[in-house]
Parts: sequence; structure tokens; C-alpha cells
Amino acid sequence: MQSESNNAKSKYPDATSQSARLHRRAQQVLPGGNTRTTVFHAPYPIYAKSANGCRITDMDGVERLDFLNNYTSLIHGHLNPGIMEAVRGQLALGTCFANPTESEIALAEVLCRRTPSFERVRFSNSGSEAVMNAIKAARAYTGRPKIAKCEGVYHGSYDPVEVSLDSSPESWGDHAPARVAYSAGTPQSVLDDVVVIPFNETDLANSILEPEAGSLAAVIVDIMPNRAGLIPARAEFLNMLREFTRRHGIVLIFDEVITFRNGPGGMQVEWGVEPDLTTLGKIIGGGFPVGAVAGRAEVMEVFNPGKGKPPLPHGGTFNANPVTMVAGLAAMEQYSAPAIARLEELGERAREVCRSAFRSAEMPGQVTGHGSLLRLHLTESPLKSYRDARHGAADRQRFSVLHASMLNHGVFMAPSGLMALSTPMEEADIDRMGEALLHSLKELRRHDRETD
Ligand SMILES: Cc1ncc(COP(=O)(O)O)c(C=O)c1O
Repeated sequence: MQSESNNAKSKYPDATSQSARLHRRAQQVLPGGNTRTTVFHAPYPIYAKSANGCRITDMDGVERLDFLNNYTSLIHGHLNPGIMEAVRGQLALGTCFANPTESEIALAEVLCRRTPSFERVRFSNSGSEAVMNAIKAARAYTGRPKIAKCEGVYHGSYDPVEVSLDSSPESWGDHAPARVAYSAGTPQSVLDDVVVIPFNETDLANSILEPEAGSLAAVIVDIMPNRAGLIPARAEFLNMLREFTRRHGIVLIFDEVITFRNGPGGMQVEWGVEPDLTTLGKIIGGGFPVGAVAGRAEVMEVFNPGKGKPPLPHGGTFNANPVTMVAGLAAMEQYSAPAIARLEELGERAREVCRSAFRSAEMPGQVTGHGSLLRLHLTESPLKSYRDARHGAADRQRFSVLHASMLNHGVFMAPSGLMALSTPMEEADIDRMGEALLHSLKELRRHDRETD
């Protein structure tokens, strides 16, 4: 798809494009030309120039539908008028102070009204920081050292939650998931304090957790982890984790950095399980850097500085900065129950047009996800957990063909096949994405034949 006002044609990759040129320039000052691993894709990423609503324009003037929305964070797409007005208003007053502002109270109040398990909130600047703070809070509250997390699940850039993030068949062990370092140089002591459980395998996970109960501060889980395939948690799996953690006085943390967009109170309300703490990010900042921990007042009390040194001192120069707070407030106020219901209907339509594209292209594939999130898979095998959904080298190669073709057909999605909708989208935008996918799957089929 190309815009009517803009006839620039996308041909990706193209060594003469502005994006390719910028990537060469970037390599002189940034390692690999990159400052955010997740936005790199070979041979070079597309450099953004501007965006409006659900459309994004690159440095070569090519406009595409934005089905990634800064990795799910722009719930209202780009340049939402309400958010822009709130931010402009705050810019005129000052951007950050060594004082609290009313805006942080207002955003915390909105969050606490949305989700019953939120009694207190603590802001930071990223989802990774939120996860770090939640784990530190659990340790301060319980006095125990270890955490449990699921194999293949991403919770941001923090050593303990990176353990076994990209385990492979060579490293993951036969039965209970092995503890595998993600980044080079991870100390053994980090691995020793992490218990890895298989997502959605209730009995095996329970049998791994029970012997560790006395030393566990927290179990952290994402109800629908993207990196593990965007497969929703089974109710019995979450119920087991809730019952196990409650019985042993362990803090149950739900990471809703991505999934908080689903349902008016996040996926925990829809799934009917209340955690002790929840980590948030992405949409609650209205397009500005944000993170938050929200949860039970008794656990959150570890942050309270009102009675002398708190068990968990927590600073942060830009925590709850008013630009983020007013943007987040404007975003959340507009994300009403009817707006959510409409977006989730579009999500159903998006998953259906993808299924239909797989059928029409006669390509094996399926789509996972829920609400306004979806993820493509190039296999028909049943998907339950990370090990089923993981991309090997051949899958990565096929996805890079699909991704390039989607770019050339006017749709910007993640190279992994993740897509996230935004409220400015219309049914016609969803259908255009489906047409682009159909063309791209046919192209992939030709590629598969040629490389057979
Ligand atoms: C589930 C989940 N948790 C935590 C994070 C980390 O958030 P941030 O990138 O803001 O540090 C992410 C980021 O994508 C995420 O998807």
C-alpha cells in the first residue's frame, strides 16, 4: 500500500536508500549502528522520519501502516491530539523537577481504579526497571534470594530475568529447563538464584517449584509472553502459580508490560487471577519512557520512606517525570472500555484475515494472540509453549523474507511476526494488512521452492 499523497515505492533492501546510507553512517559511532537490539534487522533497519495515526513514513518518503506501534506501546498510534495537547501544556510549565507533581498522583489513581490488585504504584522509566524493582521489592519483603521465571520469556534487560531467555535444543535439557545464560559474562551467582520453569506445563513446573519454595522471593510470569510465541497462559497454570505462591508466602508478579492493553484492567482481570505485584510500561506512558510497579499495599510498603530508611530505597532522576505522567494520563483516559472493546474486535478481525491469507496462499501457518495483539507462525504444529514456538535458523531466514515482503507491501510489523493494533486503525487498515500478508506469503512460497 502506498499513500495517495506519497508515491515513493518501497524496495527493501536497497543499498542506495536513505535508510541504508544512514545505517552505514551509524556504524561509525554506534556499535553495529545500533542502540536498541530489538530494532535491528539485517541488512539494515528502516529509519523513521515521521508518523501520524497508524501510518509511519521512512527517510525515503515511503509510508506504511504501523502494525508495531513502538513494540506495542503506542495504543493511540502517533500524534494523538489529546496526548499532544497534554504534553504541550506540560512543556510550557517545565519538563522535570526535583519535586513530586500532581500528575503522578493522577496517573496512579487512574491505574488503581482500573485494576483491583493495584493498591499502590511506583513509577520508573522502563519496563526493565519496573521488573527490577518488583523483584527487589519481593526480596526486601520476603528476605529470600531466588526468583522463578519461565523458559523463553522476556522481561526486559536485567540479569536474573534474562536467564534461559533464548535456550536452544542444544542447551535446554531433556526435562526440567536448564538454567542458561543469555548474555556473555553472566555470573554463575545470577544463574544460581534463578529457577526456570516451563510455561504452561503445570505439573512439571509445580514439581520444579516445590523443592525451592523456602528460598523463593518471587515467581514472575507473563500471561501471554510474546517471545515464547504469544500463547496465552492456561488457567490451570496460573491457578497453580497463585496457589503455590500464596501457600509459601512468595510474591507472585505478573509482567503486564505488553498485555495491560488487553481488557480494561489488563489480562489479569480477564483471566481472573490476582497477583501481588504487576509490572507495567509501554502504553501507560502515552508514548514516553515509562515503567511502573503496582500492587498490594503491604508489599509496596517496602518503598515507603516515611518512617526513616525504607527496606528498599528507590531513586531515579526521571521517575514520574511530568511529561510522561500527563501523556500517560491522556492515553489511559482515552483508552475507555468501549475503545478497548472496539480495538479487540479489530484484533479478532486481524487474526481472521491472517488465517484467511494462510489458507488462500496455501501456506502452512497459524496466528496466536488475544485482544489487540497477534503473532504469525509459519507452522501448523500445535503451539503450547516456548519450545514449540521458538525460531531456529531456518525459521529466522523465512521470517526475514516475509518481513521484507511485508515492508514492500506497505506494512511495518516485527521481524518475528508480532503485530499490535492502535485505536486510529479502521477495518480497512486491517484488511489491507491481510492483503499484504497474502502477497508476502505467496512470495515466501516462491522463495521456499527456489531454496528447496
Ligand atoms: C513483557 C515485557 N516485560 C518487560 C519489558 C521491558 O520493557 P522496556 O523495554 O520498557 O524496558 C518488555 C519489553 O518489550 C516486555 O515485553
